[in-house]
Amino acid sequence: MELFQVLGSTFAAREFTNDPLPDTTLYKILERARFAPSGGNRQGWRVIVVREQATRQALADLTAPAAKRYAAQQAAGENPWNAVVRTSVDAATIERTPAPSRLTEPILRAAVVLVVCVDLKVVAATDQYLERVGVVPGASIYPFAWNILLAARHEGFGGTITTLAVAQEPKVKALLGIPDHVAVCAVMPLGRPVKQLTKLRRKEVPEFTMVERWQGRPFQA
Ligand SMILES: Cc1cc2nc3c(=O)[nH]c(=O)nc-3n(C[C@H](O)[C@H](O)[C@H](O)COP(=O)(O)O)c2cc1C
Repeated sequence: MELFQVLGSTFAAREFTNDPLPDTTLYKILERARFAPSGGNRQGWRVIVVREQATRQALADLTAPAAKRYAAQQAAGENPWNAVVRTSVDAATIERTPAPSRLTEPILRAAVVLVVCVDLKVVAATDQYLERVGVVPGASIYPFAWNILLAARHEGFGGTITTLAVAQEPKVKALLGIPDHVAVCAVMPLGRPVKQLTKLRRKEVPEFTMVERWQGRPFQA
């Protein structure tokens, strides 16, 4: 596929056909994804390929608590899981909110699930002493995760970067035998999408780009 077409049509696929995603195709996808950038080119990514149904069920179960909170906050008009504006939704409300199936089912129904991890011993975190949530270390792993989706799109497959299970990271690590110095970054269901979206809802460039300073005029061509 042509690059600009891939960039403009790679969406979060959550519904899949029963088509398999063979190891040969998965290998090809990872073979392309490995060219992602990372701080100092340390390539701290590690991937666990999960096909066993019992493991997927466990991953879906571990996704549910965070999905409940996500849905409860969404219903209350909040930005779910935000670290700046804390939730005003109480624990009992979260507990009685069902986990939306669209957030858990893809893990059970995809052809394959990738658990993408990063070795924290090699990741640069230049924002680690700032008094805000860390974002820089993620930049050494999510370009890789995104490359997986771009390469999958090229091969006629799709999937989603999901992070809800990370809220239960200790249990995910115990489930998969992941060592202490490794972080779980994403659980990625992959498969053949039931339908291919061609139009994605995104802001226009001038809505998020300004000239010279934050208060500058919107950037226009
Ligand atoms: C860092 C990150 C975390 C995400 N976590 C989840 C998740 O836990 N579950 C999920 O279903 N989608 C998750 N998504 C997918 C987003 O919801 C999706 O990219 C966004 O809604 C745009 O969807 P679209 O490309 O289909 O328009 C995540 C995406 C990113 C980049």
